[in-house]
Amino acid sequence: MTVCKTTGLTVEQQNRWPFLYSHLSTDIEIPSLTNVDEQFIIEMDKEISKILKKVGDGKAKSRESLTRHLTGLLQRRFQRNAKVQAFGSSVTGLSLGTGDLDLCLSFKREQPKKVLRKIAGLLKEEGMMDIQQIPKAKIPIVKFTDSRSGLDVDISIENRLAIYNSKMLKGYAQDKRVREFILMIKYWASRRGINTAFEGTLSSYAWTLISIQHLQMTNPPVAPNRQKGGKQNLIEINGDSFDISNDSSPFESKNQQTLASLLTAFFDRFATRWDWNEMVVSIRNGGPLNAEKKKWRHTGPLPLEIVTGQSKNRMEHIMPIEDPFDHEHDLSRVVKAEGAMTIQEEFMRALHLLSQGKSWKDICAPVMEIDEEPEDFFHDLRNQNTDSLKQRIEEMKAEVVQVEERIHSLVTERQNSKELLDLLRGTLQETRNVKSNRQSILAELRPLSMKVQELRQTRDGINDRIAIPTKRIQQEMVRMFDSLTAEVDVFNTQSLGREKGDFSYFFELQAMYKASIESNQAHQEFIRLRREQNKEYKSLKNTNSQEEDVLNRLVEKNPELKGINLHPKTVKEFQQNANKFQKSINIQYSNKHELKREIGRIEAWIRIATSKGNQRPRKDSKPRQNRRQAPTVNINEVRERASTGGSFSLNELDALLSKGGISGIESKEKTSTSSQSERRKSGRKKSTYRVDPREGRKRGKKQSRN
Ligand code: CTP
Ligand code: MG
Repeated sequence: MTVCKTTGLTVEQQNRWPFLYSHLSTDIEIPSLTNVDEQFIIEMDKEISKILKKVGDGKAKSRESLTRHLTGLLQRRFQRNAKVQAFGSSVTGLSLGTGDLDLCLSFKREQPKKVLRKIAGLLKEEGMMDIQQIPKAKIPIVKFTDSRSGLDVDISIENRLAIYNSKMLKGYAQDKRVREFILMIKYWASRRGINTAFEGTLSSYAWTLISIQHLQMTNPPVAPNRQKGGKQNLIEINGDSFDISNDSSPFESKNQQTLASLLTAFFDRFATRWDWNEMVVSIRNGGPLNAEKKKWRHTGPLPLEIVTGQSKNRMEHIMPIEDPFDHEHDLSRVVKAEGAMTIQEEFMRALHLLSQGKSWKDICAPVMEIDEEPEDFFHDLRNQNTDSLKQRIEEMKAEVVQVEERIHSLVTERQNSKELLDLLRGTLQETRNVKSNRQSILAELRPLSMKVQELRQTRDGINDRIAIPTKRIQQEMVRMFDSLTAEVDVFNTQSLGREKGDFSYFFELQAMYKASIESNQAHQEFIRLRREQNKEYKSLKNTNSQEEDVLNRLVEKNPELKGINLHPKTVKEFQQNANKFQKSINIQYSNKHELKREIGRIEAWIRIATSKGNQRPRKDSKPRQNRRQAPTVNINEVRERASTGGSFSLNELDALLSKGGISGIESKEKTSTSSQSERRKSGRKKSTYRVDPREGRKRGKKQSRN
């Protein structure tokens, strides 16, 4: 493996962060975007306005209905103790349509125990996918995907500050230019894969704050500081106090910059000028805070030291961004070393591409494949016969009816299954008392049986050794005692050996007698405990018949329960069954949705094609000759003539229309005319800025950590 001697980066890492790498390893000049060509800004603005038309919360309706559905579900589950509020981009108006749905669940009374688990269970019953519980986070969260709409959802618990900061962001987003600027930064960050806090980059929320900071710092400011002045509005959360005051009055900016101009300034600022080691992003302050004063200076290793394996320690305050209400919360806390390198790479990349006159589309080229709508919504319909399209619509409509029938029957089946499930749960509840009674009997029976067993063993052990009954032993003892204590007949004395034998026989009888008594006692106790045991067995049997009675009564009332094994395992089976039904229902719903969408698209095309008469040639007809000639036309020249009112040929008109009219200059053509980029290059000031940073160690030679 070849490792760079200067940076320590492997070839793979060099390829992963090429712009950053070239700045770290060589002394190349960092471009400046302070003097960008005017024409370039005009073109970029046109491009941005096209993108803005495409992005937007196309799933707003799905979000609303999912929010309603989940609210109802959670309120039913927590008996109206629950309060559900949406926050994040679905309320701020800052959604690109690709973001998640953020919901906050709070409780009017006491928070139920094991709440995440309960929510996860509920969602599972609903057939939601990829359910994850994150209980250890500062704000506990359940994440999942709604199988019907495909929306990713975060339900966070008691996330009160998020509700307030979303409200404030909504205030900032009231201004069209502010909203569109933030949307473009989110668009760039999302397509370049640097907006996932979960994976070690910055959250969309953090990018929103950075964007607002930039707009507050332009001259004159584009965005106000909504937390300045005014009265404090303190709230308390878990013993901490937060000032959530937020001035929502409209703000008139004197700044005339366009979105493109603001965006180039943004990259100029954050790629090179912003000293992340000294400055903290703070929209509450309206400008950067001093990191030293805030005690948020970067500590720990540099990202480069971590990715090259020189350190395994933790980084702190790598790109400090202060939460507007929770001033102790640094949003870069989640950024990992690789994430920090990638963010810096993206800043450098954007800076370079902008300075080379590349389009905004190039700068935002997706790093991963994204499911995008085709440029031409009707591309596959243009050459089709209207009658055959109508025929297709009819077929699809018939299919929709079938899918609806399937949904209806699945819903009924699921309903039945759920009703039975509730019934089963109820039944098990009713028999629970009997069962708990049985449990306590069993709890007593277990030690009793062990004792009985023990006694039986003691008794039988003794009896095995001593076969003679106690009474006989006693008689024998009396006989021996008499014989041993009788008067001595001097003429007939026993031998000493015989006398010794009699004594030991007597002692043995004594020991046998003791053991025999023990055995008798064990037997007595055994008998007593057996009787007790029998009594317990009887009551146990009784509980069985009691349970049977309860069940019989229930089956009598609910004949559907007949033949079902009433056991917790059965409940689980029914539960799984209901979940399966839900999943099938979801699949059918999305089929229906797809079909309806396609029907709508074809109908729209038929309307356009028939009413305006602009249907393109049918498959069987010949293509128009002049279309082929369009590429030979110099489109920019034609466009310029068109915008200044000049005349042009039919050929040129066709080329112009096929390239999207006056506004749609393709980037390739733009660069091929080269005059603009040439102009830009010659006008570019030589920059003395260096790469920041912490990502890169080119902090300036003096500050270098090397
Ligand atoms: N939030 C927060 N603290 C964080 C992250 C998020 O308080 N560290 C809250 C903010 O209220 C934010 C909301 O969570 O508005 C949603 O965050 P996120 O999903 O990152 O931002 P969105 O604007 O919703 O972006 P997207 O459209 O990509 O979902
Ligand atoms: Mg969100």
